[in-house]
This record gives sequence, structure tokens and C-alpha cells, in this order.
Amino acid sequence: MMSQLPNSISRPAWRQLIEWIADPIEFQSRYRRMYGDVFTVRLGRLGSFVLIGSPQVIQEIFHQDAKFMVGRGNALAGPLLGQNSLLLMDGDRHRRERKLLMPSFHGERLQTYANQIGQITEQVASQWQIGQPFVARTTMQQISLEVILQIVFGLSEGERYHQLKSLLVDWTNMTDSPLRSSMLFFPVLQRDLGTWTPWGRMKQRQRQIHDLLQAEIVERKAKGQAEKTDILSLMMAARDEQGQAMTDAELRDELLTLLFAGHETSATTLAWAFYQIHNQPEVLAKLLQELDSLGELPPIKIAQLPYLTAVCQETLRMYPVIPAIFPRITQSPMKIAAYQFDAETVLLPSIYLVHYREDLYPDAHQFQPERFLTRQYSPSEYLPFGGGNRRCLGYALAQLEIKLVLATILSRYQLALAENQTVKLQRRGFTLAPSGGVRMVVQAKRSRPLLNPLTRNL
Ligand code: HEM
Repeated sequence: MMSQLPNSISRPAWRQLIEWIADPIEFQSRYRRMYGDVFTVRLGRLGSFVLIGSPQVIQEIFHQDAKFMVGRGNALAGPLLGQNSLLLMDGDRHRRERKLLMPSFHGERLQTYANQIGQITEQVASQWQIGQPFVARTTMQQISLEVILQIVFGLSEGERYHQLKSLLVDWTNMTDSPLRSSMLFFPVLQRDLGTWTPWGRMKQRQRQIHDLLQAEIVERKAKGQAEKTDILSLMMAARDEQGQAMTDAELRDELLTLLFAGHETSATTLAWAFYQIHNQPEVLAKLLQELDSLGELPPIKIAQLPYLTAVCQETLRMYPVIPAIFPRITQSPMKIAAYQFDAETVLLPSIYLVHYREDLYPDAHQFQPERFLTRQYSPSEYLPFGGGNRRCLGYALAQLEIKLVLATILSRYQLALAENQTVKLQRRGFTLAPSGGVRMVVQAKRSRPLLNPLTRNL
């Protein structure tokens, strides 16, 4: 049977690409109104993508995930992260790498990370003055960068830590607007003509970051690192089934991958959570009621609180940090649900299209954490972390971080939004972030702080 790409949009491909870069949310909602749940977009030279907003089709894709190629679809991230990034791998190499990385992100490790997250949040927030305005996303990025540096890289002081920190901030800020993000999508802009070109500056920072990471790896090898609990140490100690360790180049590229995948995403989600919580007084009141009623709970237990969890879930539903999950490329002709696809078809399950379905999420444009208390969603109906064999490696760490940062700050400080206007989504590199970053103000320290559950157990 010959297959055809379903519902192809007829506009010129270059125009679709510009629309996608400028506003992928408006782009998807417009074409969903015209074509329904499954339609094909052509994004300039990046090619054709079948966007999918149907949970049934996505469920089949997740079930058959091993049959797709993903690495090639993530090629845009290659120049940033290096060719040894998990994002670019497929098949056996991807399976091996995930096995090496996975244990660092799960199990008892999370308990240690939870304590560190509480401390980092306390430390960043303690610098606030009453009456001080701040941009929530910037503060959250300070926290999430510190989480990556301390928990993933194992660095919390010293010259290398300070140098890396300022380079990483600089590096990630290089794509902080739709225009500045364009260089990621147009290989023609990726020319290293020295530091007076944006790409040249990007590559220069990257080389400096590589050198610092390499120096850290060499030093750790020389010193030994028996009792260290950070993720780099665990990665260095891990061995595959053949007894092989990860190479220095793999370690370096995976560190940048974890930074890239885990730092902006968590910061942005937190900024949205603060926005919605302070936009709706009843949500804040319910959260405080839950937090204030706590006895002595270890941080890991705080992360299980039902309303706090629902607020985190609803934030991730309403504000997908990336518009769609990684592209899945068919290796051979495949039938998926009612669709027949040729080999080399690129399928793009869209988080946004699914999370805004009125049949699953009535009043989808309203922030309603309660929906997660009254209904269970399947993995293809709720997919902020993707699914199948590419599901986000850091999903447990990310949710822990979001909940503990919220719990720590809300129980200690009274904050308010500094502006009375609706905050919109804006592209930031490959991610979507709140435009303006959510401006807030510190009104007071809370007069009856709770029982200090987060620091009491440290
Ligand atoms: C709110 C925070 C986060 C969100 C919304 C998020 C979302 C995602 C999504 C949608 C994917 C693609 C999954 C797919 O295509 O099926 C992904 C992959 C990934 N994420 Fe996250 N992520 C977050 C935080 C993190 C953190 C904290 C880390 C680690 C420190 C991390 C590491 C990764 C990695 C390594 C992958 C690639 C997995 C693979 O290719 O096998 N993420 N994430």
C-alpha cells in the first residue's frame, strides 16, 4: 500500500519554519483547528514532520519505540552537545548509555539530592531583601544551575566551579530569544568566523567549558573519589556489560547533555508554577494549608504531598517546556493506528496538542490542579517527560526539584506578582519560556513559618 503524509499544510516550507521558530504554540493550534489531530508540516530544509495530537497514535508509538530512530532527528543539538550525547544515540549504543546513566537518577540517591535541593534553595532565597523585585525565571535558573553543578557535576566551590558557572550562564543565555535561537535551526548561521559572530562566540564558550570539564575529569581520576555521591562520580564508576567505563569524551558530552536537558527545563517550569500560584489566590491558600499542616517530614516525603504534586503536574501540563517530544523516524514502512507511513517518515508527538485536548482536559486554558486529584491519565494522555524508551532520564529529579523549591520558598516567604498582565510563552533556544520571565516581588518573610521541615532533617 502506498502511503501519503496526512493533511499536508500547503504554505511554503520556509514560511512554516519561520512560524514554527517564532511561535510553535500558535502554529500548532492554528493548524489543529484546520486539520485535526494529525497533520504534516514542512519546516524549511529540516524537512517534513507529522505532528501528532492523538493519544491513541502516541500510545502505539511508545509501544513500538525500539523500531524508530531518534538520534538523527536530534541532530540540531549535535553542534551544541557533542557527538557522544545520549540525545544523538540509537539502538544498542543508546541502551548501553541509558543503563550506565539511569541508576544515578533513581532510588536512594534521590534522598541525598532532596536534602541538597532544600539547602540550595534556602541559600539562594536568603539573599532576597523585603520589597525587592526579582525575575522568577532568573532566580529559578540560579537554583537549577546550582542543582546541576552540585548534584550532577559535584562542584560547589573553588575556581573551577566559579569559572564554569559564569561560562554556563553565558552560554545558555546566547539563545534567549526567538531571533537569537535562529542560529540553532539554520546550519548556514553556524559558521565559526571568530568571536565577533554569534556562532563563533558560542563555540568559543563551548571550548572553554570543555577544557574545564576535562580538567575536572582528569583530576578526579588522579585523586580517586570513593565517597563522592554526585552523578559525575557515579558515571565514572559505572561499567557496562563488557566491563567498559565511559570515555572522557562521553563523560564530557553527557555532562553538557544533562545540563542542557535539565537546567532550563526545571527553571522554566518553576517560573510558571510561581506565576500561576500567585495569579490564583485560592491555589496559594490551599498549598499553604497543606504545607503549614506538616509535621516533621523528610524532604522526600514533602514531594509526595497530594496538592503540591497536583500543582506540579498541572504546571507541566499547561506549559510544556518543549513543544513536542523527540522526533521518531520510521526505519521501515509501518502501520500505526489508521495511518500507513513510509520508511524515513518523521513523527512528532506533540505534548502541546495532547495537553490542550478538551476531551481530556476540560477548560484546558484554565490552571486547575484539582483535575489531577480526580482523574488518572495514561502515559499517552499526559506526557510532559515524553515516553517509551526515550522517556526523560531526569523526570524524578526534575519533579523532586520543582516540588521542594516551591515548598521551601512558599513556606518561608510571602511573594506577589509585580505585574498585572498575562504572561505569554516565548521561544528560548529549543525550549518555551515565559516572556519577561515572570516579575515578582518579595513582600515579607512569613510570620508563622512552618516547622522548617526541609532543613530540620539535614
Ligand atoms: C521540568 C523538567 C523537565 C522536562 C519537562 C523534561 C522533558 C523531557 C522530554 C519531553 C524529553 C524527551 C522524551 C521523549 O522524546 O520521549 C526529555 C529527555 C531527556 N531529559 Fe528531560 N526534562 C526535564 C528535566 C530533566 C532533567 C532534570 C534531566 C537531567 C538532569 C533531564 C535529562 C534528560 C535526558 C538525558 C533526556 C534524553 C533521554 C534519551 O534520549 O534517552 N531532563 N526530557
